[in-house]
Amino acid sequence: MDIAVRPCASPEELRDALNVISHYFGHENNDEDAERFAKWIEVDRVHAARDGDAIVGCAGAYTYRMAVPGGGSVPAGGVTIVGVLPTHRRRGVLTAMMRAQLADCRARGDAVAYLWASEATIYGRFGYGLASRQGSVELVKDRTRFVAPFEPRGSMRLLDLDEAVQLFPPLYEQVFAQRPGMFSRDAAWWETRRLNDDPSRRRGAGPLNRALLELDGKPAGYALYRVAQEWAFGSSSGKVTIQEVVTPTPEATRELWRWLLDFDWTSKFDADLLPLDHPLFLLLAEPRRMQFRVDDGVWVRILDIEAALTARSYNGDESTVLELADAFMPENAGRWRVGSAGVSRTEDAADLRLDITGLGTVYLGGFGFGDLVRGFRAEELKEGAAERADALFATGVEPWCAEIF
Ligand SMILES: CC(C)(COP(=O)(O)OP(=O)(O)OC[C@H]1O[C@@H](n2cnc3c(N)ncnc32)[C@H](O)[C@@H]1OP(=O)(O)O)[C@@H](O)C(=O)NCCC(=O)NCCS
Repeated sequence: MDIAVRPCASPEELRDALNVISHYFGHENNDEDAERFAKWIEVDRVHAARDGDAIVGCAGAYTYRMAVPGGGSVPAGGVTIVGVLPTHRRRGVLTAMMRAQLADCRARGDAVAYLWASEATIYGRFGYGLASRQGSVELVKDRTRFVAPFEPRGSMRLLDLDEAVQLFPPLYEQVFAQRPGMFSRDAAWWETRRLNDDPSRRRGAGPLNRALLELDGKPAGYALYRVAQEWAFGSSSGKVTIQEVVTPTPEATRELWRWLLDFDWTSKFDADLLPLDHPLFLLLAEPRRMQFRVDDGVWVRILDIEAALTARSYNGDESTVLELADAFMPENAGRWRVGSAGVSRTEDAADLRLDITGLGTVYLGGFGFGDLVRGFRAEELKEGAAERADALFATGVEPWCAEIF
């Protein structure tokens, strides 16, 4: 089989490439779909695998910045629409696309690539490590009491698309600086994707509601939610699905969640993609009633070790020496000294030995070197090295990516 992997060069090629992953969603894209998608991604960041004239594989990368510990961010390829037609699976097409895509990300200056994986077995071989966890909750209406009742002082407004596009992004940007793992959203993303109420995405629920919290007359947080109404024996058995809540301050978090959970005419609330350290654990009188279920979150592939590790924060003046293996991008392998004084190659003896996937796993602060050692993903070469490296890398906040891309 002769497969050629090349970037797409036209909207028509993008449409055909999108149809590979859409095959698995049971959907076929038309020109309009491709046009809409091209608002979010540069056409030449979509790699297509071709068998003759036919496109049989696809892998795209959004141009993002990804938030890292300490309030900074790095250029990141947000990997998406990865698929190989069932007629061509398990013949190395994905591997060829990953090779082309990661080289392209690196050439464009991305320090990392990151993604949501449909299956945990796919991306480790290409150097991606599980970097965050996320939770989903299902809370029944009469179990939402807070430990400490309080007098709300904010006011709420429901916004149309135009106003939300103006007022929500600055709030998101504040949280972006607090939470490693978030990705930057540009105007087109806000308008045509996150805040857009495409009826095909309602899944049986009602329209997208865009609620703004104001404190002292200023925007303080927002929530996106949908209502799916049903009745049983004269009472609501409906559900409110909370899609995204962004609140840069603890006060806004408490006010906005209280307002959401006081919704009349519902029997329960669903929310997912929540950070593991969500304040609801301590706000709610009965946190167990959330039925908080933990899943894997985003996967990070470090591409440029120096750029990626220099961009994040460290505690204190110590450093650690990591001996890294990277089978897929061997140029990264070797010994690296990492700390607030800088990140550079070294000949010094290593403290810890690990694979590039392990570095992706600890990068955002969702896991530590101790976790890697206990999970047989890293080896301590000096006694106590994992504990010292954990003190250096500790962030005090769980990573969070609020949206699947
Ligand atoms: C997942 C998918 C892209 C793999 O493509 P592919 O061209 O078959 O992958 P390759 O032939 O390059 O496989 C490379 C290796 O990964 C393994 N692999 C690939 N997909 C795998 C999966 N889903 N589970 C376990 N192993 C997998 C292969 O067995 C192979 O292993 P080997 O090198 O040890 O032989 C393809 O099956 C697909 O499109 N699936 C449905 C959509 C999907 O899940 N997309 C990913 C969205 S995040």
